[in-house]
This record gives sequence, C-alpha cells and structure tokens, in this order.
Amino acid sequence: MASLTSLISSPPSSTNNIFPKRTSQLSAPIGRLQTLRKSQLAVTCKSSNVLAAAAAASRRDVLLGLGAGLYGAGAFVTDPFSAAFARPIDGPSQDVCKLATPSPGNPLQIECCPPAMAGRESKPFQFPSPSEPKRIRRPAHLASQDKEYVEKYKLAMKRMKCLPPEDPRSFFQQAKVHCAYCNGSYVQSSHTNLGLQIHFSWLFLPFHRMYLHFYERILGSLIQDPTFALPFWNWDHEDGMAIAEMFKDPESPLFDGLRNVHHLPSNKPLDLRWDRVTEDKPFERIRDDNYARVYELMVSGAQRRLEFFGPKYRAGDPPPAGGGGTSERLHNMAHLWTGGHNQQFGEDMGNFYSAGRDPIFYVHHCNVDRLWNVWKTIGGFRFDFDDYDYLNTSFLFYDENSDLIKIKVKDVLDPQALGLEYEDRPIPWRNSRPVPTAANAARTATAAAFGGPAEAQAAVGPRFPLVLEKVTTVMVPRPKKGRTAKEKSAASEILVVEGIELEGDKVVQFEVVINDDPDNPSGPSNSEFAGSFLNIPHVHGNNGHNKFVTGLRMDITELLEDIGAENDDQIQVTLVPKKSDGPVTIGGLKIEYSS
Ligand code: C2O
Repeated sequence: MASLTSLISSPPSSTNNIFPKRTSQLSAPIGRLQTLRKSQLAVTCKSSNVLAAAAAASRRDVLLGLGAGLYGAGAFVTDPFSAAFARPIDGPSQDVCKLATPSPGNPLQIECCPPAMAGRESKPFQFPSPSEPKRIRRPAHLASQDKEYVEKYKLAMKRMKCLPPEDPRSFFQQAKVHCAYCNGSYVQSSHTNLGLQIHFSWLFLPFHRMYLHFYERILGSLIQDPTFALPFWNWDHEDGMAIAEMFKDPESPLFDGLRNVHHLPSNKPLDLRWDRVTEDKPFERIRDDNYARVYELMVSGAQRRLEFFGPKYRAGDPPPAGGGGTSERLHNMAHLWTGGHNQQFGEDMGNFYSAGRDPIFYVHHCNVDRLWNVWKTIGGFRFDFDDYDYLNTSFLFYDENSDLIKIKVKDVLDPQALGLEYEDRPIPWRNSRPVPTAANAARTATAAAFGGPAEAQAAVGPRFPLVLEKVTTVMVPRPKKGRTAKEKSAASEILVVEGIELEGDKVVQFEVVINDDPDNPSGPSNSEFAGSFLNIPHVHGNNGHNKFVTGLRMDITELLEDIGAENDDQIQVTLVPKKSDGPVTIGGLKIEYSS
C-alpha cells in the first residue's frame, strides 16, 4: 500500500481506489494556504513536521475544475423521520472515499480520507481493561487553573500536531475524521450509492463519543499518561459559558486562529441564541436565555428518545440532513458562535468540514457527551434506544496504536465501561422552566378558548409550501384536546414543522412560538417559545446540488400546560425568521404524538 504522502505527491492512478478520479487539478488559492499556516502553526516542533503537515494539508485542499460535477446529479429528498430498512449501518466502505467539499457549488474540494484504509483488516473494539485508571473529564474553566494539567494537555496536543501528516493519529488526520464522516467522503459499505452522514440522526451522540474516546487515548498515549482526559466546555453553567482561558493563548497548541475574535474576551458567554449580529447583550440576559434553552432541549422538549437523539437512520436510508434531535440542536450554536466570522465557510468551528481543526471542538463535544449522561438521570422515558440496528451500527477509527478499529454503537452506551467519568457539576438550568407571558398567564386562569374553530382560521392562513421571508402565523389544529395525565404519559404532543427545504451549505435559522404576539415574539425564557431551527453549513451526502428537506420536532406537552392551551382545538404557531444566508421553504405544520 502506497503511503499517503506518496499518493499526494504523485498523480492519482486509476487503480488507486482511495481517491476518486480527478479530472483537473489546480493549486490551492494563496489565501487558503495562508489561513492554514496562521491558524495551525502556533506550535514549533523540533523537526519541520508541522510545516510539512500544514503544507500537505494545504496541498490536499485542492480545487477541482468540475466542482459539483463529481457527484451524480438528481434531486434527492428524504424524510429523515422514517426508516425504510431494518438493518444496521455497517460503517463506511473502506474501498470508496471521495473528496469532501464544504459546498457542492464551490470548486473547493478537500481530501479528508484516512490513510491506507482500502483492503485493510479492521480489529473489533476492545473495552479498556478494568485495571486501567479512570479518565476523569473536568470542566475546562476549572482545569484552566490547574497549571500542571494545562501543561500536560498542551504537550499532548503539541505532540499530536508534530506527528507526520500521514500518521493516522496526527492532528491533521484526526481533524479529517470529522470531515470525512460529514462532508461527503464516505459511502455506506452495504450501499455504496448512498453517502454516510453521522449528524442529524440517532447516530450523532454515539459517533461523537467514539471519536472523543480515540482522540483522548491518542493524546494520553503521546504523553504516556493513561489518566489523561479531555476537559469539557461547561457552557450549561454560568461559570463555564466563556471559552476557557487555556484556549486563548495564541502561542499554545490549544489555540486556533480561526475563531470569532468578538467572542474571545474573557467572560464573554456562549450565546445559545446568538443572532449573528448582536454582540452587546448583557451577561445575565444570555445566561438566563441559555438556561431556558438547555431546559427546553434537555427537559420539556426532550421527554422521549426520538426527540432527544434524532431520527432513526439505518442501512439503505439516504443520508439524513438538518434538524436532528434536541441533543444536537443544543450543540449547534457553539459551532457557529466559535467559528471565524469572516471566513468563507465559517472555518474552523462554523463548518463541519473544518470543525475538527479547532482543539476546542473536542472540548465542546465532551460537554455534549456529558449532557447525554445527564439527560438519562432526569427520569421519565429518558433511556437509550435498544433497537437492534442502532446497537449494531459500526464505524471505523484509528486508535492510539494506529490500528484500524471497528466499533459499534452498543460499545459506547456505558461510559463506565469505557473508563470514563465526568466531574459532577451543578445543573442550574434544571430549574429554568420558562414562564408564560402575561397574556397567557391570564388565560391559564380563565381557560378561555383561543382563536376560534380550526376551519375558519385555516381558510385565512398562508398556503404551503411557503418561502419563509417574514414573520408568519399559522393555525394548527390539534387532533386531541384536553388530554388526560394518562394520555400524556403514554405519548408526548409534538409540533412538527415539515418539509423544511434549504441549501445545506447555508446558515439558515428561524424560531417558533405558540399563542404569542407575532409583533413581539417571545424568547426562550417565556413558555410560548417552542424551539428553533439552525443549519450549520455541511454537505448533504452524495447529493449534487445540496438542497435538502428536513423537519423539526418540538415536544410541546409541557408548553401547552404552561400557556393554558390544553383544551384548545388549535394552536397559533408563529415562525420567526432570523438572519440566514439562504432561502428556506416550509412544507407545513402538524401535530403528532410520540411515545
Ligand atoms: Cu460532528 Cu459538533 O459536530
């Protein structure tokens, strides 16, 4: 097997099946080379390995003359909420790996394929031996004060960045893992006509847990420390909302030059409802809205697994796109907020193809992973899926010994078995149940009917599909009203925004409020706020023009109680568009029940 370096420097031959055929190849634009150097050469290595790695990475960001022509054409519409085939996804095909792209319409193509995978035998995953010490992940803002830990972490990251670029454990190869699984490199091994996507479905949480597991063990092995653990970005607590100090030193291997400079000053909290414009919201406002959003996406809106984990995704299904479960929607804004605000594709964090290039990506995902554990402690119907296909879905990763490992979803459902623990932290958002606006608080007391009969309102409502350009109000009939406690415990009431059509490489966002004043729609701290949609730019599998259709599911059972609308025949839903980079069309709104 030729090494990756030789494959890069020699023109790809038609017999090599790691790369697709390239019809024309230009050199990467100068600006691109410069950004990579500036952001990723913050470390000096004894050898010139880092330079070589960055140069190789840049060479691999090749411009393809044909752009989107590489992929098959044809519109490609999918309902991610229905699983067509009862079969587990058997990981990516080892024989097919395509150039990835941040945007099919753009000629920039990126080589995200791992080295030497074709024809290679993978080993089955082995749990760490119980005699291994535990790895305890701590909040990054507290770990920042532990000098010894920070030095260790920096040394491990530095060594990772200094590994030769063809080494699967190197920083560059590890960053590519995310790109390959997200931006169109891989196809399903059992259905090579279908792209593989690890976001926007029930695979989101387990895939990222696996990724962190191998990443962390590689770092630990590079400093011979079996206790080494990544920190977590504790953005669900007011003390941890800002980017932790250890990530801010431009000389440190934990730094990334492609972050939004407005968000670096100390104590600038991650704003889970950032509108991409406002930078001067008071801390308390952001904190309270964040808590309310975490409450919505972990508690009231996440009572059942389908809503929390996201749609089911099985072998033979087209790659899911957009939407995702509340666990994923909760995590999206940190990408957009952290990423470069003046980069073409939001690099690094603001685009899935480049997110793995920022060390903070892994720290952000540790918190997402931690919140998965926390969710299961909240009670009710909050369990992992036990679906056969889910449990047996597998992925491929290189481990700390550079062995290719096949790992299954069922291998990562118990963090204990992985030798993993999170330091306990208070969860202040647990008590942040939103409160109704004054108008609805009054209604709760009087229980008056809202808005009149469904038929009368439907006639004057907007027609679907509608292009969402302005605040739009729609009456949505409820199939059942006045549900008993027993009915509510048997099934949640879900508001579904269906047929959301957009372009995958564009930021698109809107919010949804219920029985609220359309001229003054509520924020997350009010019960009327049902949820929001945000698309982080990505590529939708093997679809040539990157339009996709998705849905948004919001559990409104508790919301309806809080606004006194349980006995109404219909609800008034208002869609509030937010600053987006591309158009969005809405196919319709309906109520569904989820058990
Ligand atoms: Cu794979 Cu935060 O994304």
